[in-house]
Amino acid sequence: MAHLTSLTADKKSWKELDFDVIAIGLFEEPELAAHGQELDKALGGQIGTAIEKGDIKGKAKETNLFYSTDLRVMTVGLGKKEKFDGEVARRAGAVAVKFALQKKYARLVFVSLGADQDLAEGLVLGSYQFLNYKQEDEDRFFVESAIIVDGDRDDADKGLKIADAVCLARDLGNHPGNVATPTFLAETAQAIADEGGMKLTVWDRQEFTEMGMGALAGVALGTDEPPKFILLEYNGGGDEKPVALVGKGLTFDSGGISIKPGAGMDEMKFDMCGSAVVLGTMKAVAALKPKMNVIAAVPSTENMSGAKAYKPGDILTAYNGKTIEVLNTDAEGRLILADALSYVSKHYDPQYILDFATLTGAVLIALGHIATGILGTDDELIEKVKAAAETTGEKFWQLPLWDEYCEHVKSKIADVKNTGKSRQAGTIAGAAFLKEFVGEDIPWVHFDIAGSAWSDEELPYDTKNAATGAVVRTVVELMGI
Ligand code: BES
Ligand code: MN
Ligand code: ZN
Repeated sequence: MAHLTSLTADKKSWKELDFDVIAIGLFEEPELAAHGQELDKALGGQIGTAIEKGDIKGKAKETNLFYSTDLRVMTVGLGKKEKFDGEVARRAGAVAVKFALQKKYARLVFVSLGADQDLAEGLVLGSYQFLNYKQEDEDRFFVESAIIVDGDRDDADKGLKIADAVCLARDLGNHPGNVATPTFLAETAQAIADEGGMKLTVWDRQEFTEMGMGALAGVALGTDEPPKFILLEYNGGGDEKPVALVGKGLTFDSGGISIKPGAGMDEMKFDMCGSAVVLGTMKAVAALKPKMNVIAAVPSTENMSGAKAYKPGDILTAYNGKTIEVLNTDAEGRLILADALSYVSKHYDPQYILDFATLTGAVLIALGHIATGILGTDDELIEKVKAAAETTGEKFWQLPLWDEYCEHVKSKIADVKNTGKSRQAGTIAGAAFLKEFVGEDIPWVHFDIAGSAWSDEELPYDTKNAATGAVVRTVVELMGI
């Protein structure tokens, strides 16, 4: 809800700008560049002295503050010069803006580091706070504006728009389950559609059930919160084949009849973070209006237990006609995705499909909150994800999807079952199941974001126990927006 929304770049000298603090980056073995020398002069040589005395080391995350009566200068450490890249700039922006938040400096200026899109992303992502429900907070403060001195305005603007889309994904994740309902996701999709000139279609329970989405309908049986199947279509590329994005919009996962243990169950409000990746990416599409076609599908429901809920042993029929034996009602994400993957495969001829889901606890065990697990059927597309990640600084780790694993989801009495082998290769079993619902020959990558969707520690541009908006930036980069 709260993040920096006013950010630009300016070729004017810092002397002509209004600000509360100006930040400069310094590498290890610090040297002052042109702007730094000017600022140092204005401060009577304080920065130069601090460098000489070894007080400024230039290490990553290091900040120092220098004053004269009418000037405040912050130095931000950048680490080793030869290791500089976009991620270093992004983190420096985040460190600076968090410092400004803490000191209550409303207007921040940062001297360009030569990677303005990344710096802009860091400034915006670092400024993010989720304060919607916290009342009477004395420390409440917002950074109002940031200017990148000597920066490129288009790069800064692109960084702002992409980071703004990431913040939308974070907000969706951070809202509690009683607010971020399927209806709320559909309303968010409507706002994005309005901004980007997209077509939105939302099917309700009766409609998607009659259409044959038996897996989504099965999961949704146990909830009175109205479930939705949400479809956004962006047409900016004429007759070109669309890219299809599919996201798990499970707004609260209790596990259903196969109920989860109580400890940490509140975290299952984050179980719609796959849909947040999709809606965040569509927000970036709406803001940047690329010349391409994009389809976004979000199956959305709660997973609850009760007299009407689906049960272990039930057999459901998905949109592509395959029958699914439900052996655990807590493996519900793959069920709702089955219908969505079948739907986009059948009705469009996508260049490729990407799906995003907090699908398995197993990926959190394997990779922690640091990286996203990726699996797919097309090596070229997987390589593209890895290449995009080099630019965005997000982390992905590929797991294999060999035929031997695909056997694990075969059922004796139905076409497939929704669990693999107990305690074995859980993340791979999830992907092996999804593969059954992706149209043949359509390149596809599955992103298991059950670890990366939220953070359990404070990082330069992530917040402890809050949604990260992870993967949005990499998807935007991969799609060539
Ligand atoms: N939403 C969970 C996965 C999850 C677990 C995400 C922990 C984040 C943190 C998913 O619906 C689920 O419950 N998966 C089961 C599958 C199992 C029953 C085959 C799991 O991972 O335990
Ligand atoms: Mn579950
Ligand atoms: Zn789930």
